[in-house]
Amino acid sequence: MDLLRSRQDLERLDALRAGGRLVLVPTMGALHAGHLDLVRRAGEIGLVVVSIFVNPAQFGPDEDFDRYPRDLDHDLEALAPLAPDAVFAPSLPEMYGAPSGVSVVPGPRADGLCGALRPGHFAGVLTVVAKLFNLIRPDVAVFGRKDGQQCLVIDEMVRDLDFHLRLVDAPTTREDDGLALSSRNRYLGGEDRRRAVCLSRGLAAVKAALEEGERDVAGLEARLVRELAVADDVEYAKILTVPDLSRIEHAEGKVIAAVAAQVGPARLIDNMVLNVDEQGVTETSLFP
Ligand code: PAF
Repeated sequence: MDLLRSRQDLERLDALRAGGRLVLVPTMGALHAGHLDLVRRAGEIGLVVVSIFVNPAQFGPDEDFDRYPRDLDHDLEALAPLAPDAVFAPSLPEMYGAPSGVSVVPGPRADGLCGALRPGHFAGVLTVVAKLFNLIRPDVAVFGRKDGQQCLVIDEMVRDLDFHLRLVDAPTTREDDGLALSSRNRYLGGEDRRRAVCLSRGLAAVKAALEEGERDVAGLEARLVRELAVADDVEYAKILTVPDLSRIEHAEGKVIAAVAAQVGPARLIDNMVLNVDEQGVTETSLFP
């Protein structure tokens, strides 16, 4: 596992690139079992580079940038058994230098959901992801499906700006009770942790309703909201098309049920991607 801290260190990736497909797993560190599953998935595809960088540009002024957990030694220890080929962990000045203010403008998939509630968030994500793509030049990049809108917004950028790489959305890793793994779960104590399961329960209820034949999106969203009653605040609970994240009245084809809610000190998101057709209802991936 080669630790790369600077742009100059990235030159060592050239030797790696000669040996096979380079697969990037971008992260902000605070690695948990879900990230490790992404690294495993990447290892099935090619030679793995994990990036670790807490990107200030994607946090709003009142968000948790300052308290976001940072512990590179812990992250390297967590990665060691999987032996990724390289870890890129740049400092803030190394990554951004003295920026002039150029950034990537997200496309329409960023308009709703988290994009509407976190102004500037996806511009920050796309800018750092574009920089990582340019610096590392991967053949494939693996992202967690839990951040479903992020995956689709990045996909739109890759298409529109002609990045030459393939995107893979890896399935969400869950606790036994269904809670999606997230670095922010560490903010959850006893009772909040118990309530947090309402997000995945709500998504399971939507799937069950679809299996029973319900197709009316207003009814399905109401069912989702009912399950979220124990959360402190429901930011959104929507069923939208994939990949465009458009509103629909009738659930059919590939759809995403997406939810964001505040539970105690943690803002949690989760989603389920479903294919709905005459054969039935099956959980599926965002990308073909
Ligand atoms: O999903 C994340 O951890 C971040 O948004 C990403 C893609 C690493 C960009 O900072």
